[in-house]
Amino acid sequence: MKGKSLISINDYSKEEQISILELAAHFEQNPIQKILDGYVVATLFFEPSTRTRLSFESAVNRLGGKVIGFSDSSSSSVKKGESLKDTILTVSNYSDLIVMRNPVEGSARYASEVSKVPVINAGDGSNQHPTQTLLDLYTIRQTQKTLDNLHVAFVGDLKYGRTVHSLVQALCNYNTTFYFISPNELKLPSYIKMNIKNSNLKYYQLTDMAEVMSNIDILYMTRVQRERFSDPLEYERVKDAYILKRDMLTDIKENMKILHPLPRVNEISEDVDDTPQAYYFQQALNGVFVRQALITSILGIK
Ligand code: CP
Repeated sequence: MKGKSLISINDYSKEEQISILELAAHFEQNPIQKILDGYVVATLFFEPSTRTRLSFESAVNRLGGKVIGFSDSSSSSVKKGESLKDTILTVSNYSDLIVMRNPVEGSARYASEVSKVPVINAGDGSNQHPTQTLLDLYTIRQTQKTLDNLHVAFVGDLKYGRTVHSLVQALCNYNTTFYFISPNELKLPSYIKMNIKNSNLKYYQLTDMAEVMSNIDILYMTRVQRERFSDPLEYERVKDAYILKRDMLTDIKENMKILHPLPRVNEISEDVDDTPQAYYFQQALNGVFVRQALITSILGIK
């Protein structure tokens, strides 16, 4: 994977994805290693982030590298009208790797085409969030001891949720049975359903979460993505469609775990947090190890 950008999860083969998960397990055991001495990673965030940006930066810092960048593009020359192309060309003079989040779908692919150094997509609009997918795969494997033959339910905003889009594509490699629970307005896009069909896998679209609770191994909750709605009234109509509460966790499989890419708004009640099923904060921690694995693989150090 040396020098290889990661823009869409399908840019990396199943074998390449697994090699990142294997290496992440090594970093989970040894997260502090001074192997990035002299390397500079740029984090360019044109959209807000807590976990993705800070876990990338934590990953680099714990490996002895340096981070440059911005968390708010209004503090950069973008504010003066500089183009994305010129920004990327400039930053690729100053760094060995660029991690970018941008609200425009396709912007990360474009950045990778003009950059002199590899680019990692940290989320482009509603399209893809491939590093979240790698940490989701790592977490699913950690909790289930396998990625194969699982029953996975996705709940909430399946239309705009980029973490859902890239994770569904990755799980098509593992004989997954999918359950998609959303309001009609927020159904999974057709092109992702086509990926599932082309993999000869089964999926079910429902509106009631209760119908699947006893069947599933993973419950992947998502936030309704307010920032993607053009009509605020439509957001108001659907924002409280699904709220997971502790008393809904009665008739479930023993191994069932609840994941969420976070941030959470109100879709998981706080009384769920101390149940044995809640795993979303460990999931966020895994982001550091997976991103250490990804960075060192792309830089050709591991
Ligand atoms: N999961 C995720 O992308 O979180 P942030 O928006 O906080 O980075």
